[in-house]
Parts: sequence; C-alpha cells; structure tokens
Amino acid sequence: MNVVLFGFMGTGKTTIGKRLAQRLGWTCMDMDEILEQREGRSIADIFATDGEAHFRMLEKDLAAELAHGTRQVISTGGGVVLDPENVRRFQASGFCVCLHADEDTILRRVAAKSHRPLLEQGDKAARIRALLHQRKPLYDQIEHQIDTVALSEDKIVEELAGITGRTDASVPAPPLSGAAGLSERVKHRETS
Ligand code: S3P
Repeated sequence: MNVVLFGFMGTGKTTIGKRLAQRLGWTCMDMDEILEQREGRSIADIFATDGEAHFRMLEKDLAAELAHGTRQVISTGGGVVLDPENVRRFQASGFCVCLHADEDTILRRVAAKSHRPLLEQGDKAARIRALLHQRKPLYDQIEHQIDTVALSEDKIVEELAGITGRTDASVPAPPLSGAAGLSERVKHRETS
C-alpha cells in the first residue's frame, strides 16, 4: 500500500506528502527531490541541459521503481500524468489522490518561485492556464480528488490518514460517497 499524490504544480503535493508521511510513519518519497539528489543537479538544470524528454525518462524510471515499494507517500511531479504507464503503475501500487487548486491560487503559490522550467517560458498566468487546460482530462482520471483551496492542510492530512488507516494493500479503497468522491464528501462535512 502507498498513497500517491498527483496534481498540477502548486497544488501542495510536496507539503501534504511530507506531513502525511510523518503522520502515518511512512516514508516520504518526493519524486522531484529524489531526482535532484540522484542527478546532483536541479530539475531546471536537467531541462536546460538535456531537455524535457530526458527528464520524462528519468521520471518514468523512478515512477516504476517507487511503484514497487510500500508504505510510502509519493509526491509526484505535476507532469507525471502525461505518461499513461506512470498512472497505471501507481494505480496498481496504492491509493491515488489528485490535489486541486484554481488558476489564481496556483499563480499566487508559484509567483515568487522560479525553479519550475515549464512556468518560465513567457507569462506565468498564461502558461498555467494552457497547461491546466491541456492536462485536465489526465488529472480527472485519478480516482479521488481533493480541493486544496476549500480545505486546510490539517483537514486534508487527517482525511487522507483516516482513509489510509482503513485501507490495506489487499483491499480496494473504500467507496467514497458523493459523485466527485473525496472532495465532495469533505466539502459536505465542512458545511454540515
Ligand atoms: C512539472 C512539475 C514539477 C517538476 C517539473 C515538471 C510539470 O513538479 O516535476 O518542473 O510538468 O508539471 P511540481 O509539480 O512538484 O512542481
């Protein structure tokens, strides 16, 4: 059993992943951090020197490796969904959740940062809008969805820890009430 966090840049995968791993006593695996450590250079350097295709290859190899592990909270990079094989592998390896935020929130969260090569090509807001539009169907295919704007980090971590505690590797994830799954359920709780 693993928990795999998907989502666009700036949706909080790294922060939530670290907190959830600590809460569960599991290993935190942040894909970008691991790649940077192994390569001895930043993601921006990998893109600049060897190109995006090379980065995607490294990312895919790492996804395959991590999918074999257990009791890990895996924070993926935002583009991991571009390769359907990555998604299939992670879906077979654990509980998959996609974190969401609206365009304005994402822009606010990433505005002062310059380490994401895909957002450094022209106007950040326009890049975010275009990439979000392009990737929406890919994020939507993930079974469980969480709105990170409506919920506090504490609530998200507690909710995910609770679900994980009730789920083990041999049992499929419990059905979530509400058409949109987790986010619906949590929203309902928030307002009731
Ligand atoms: C990317 C997201 C980044 C990083 C790389 C490419 C993407 O990770 O993997 O810059 O294609 O969305 P974060 O989502 O952690 O920022």
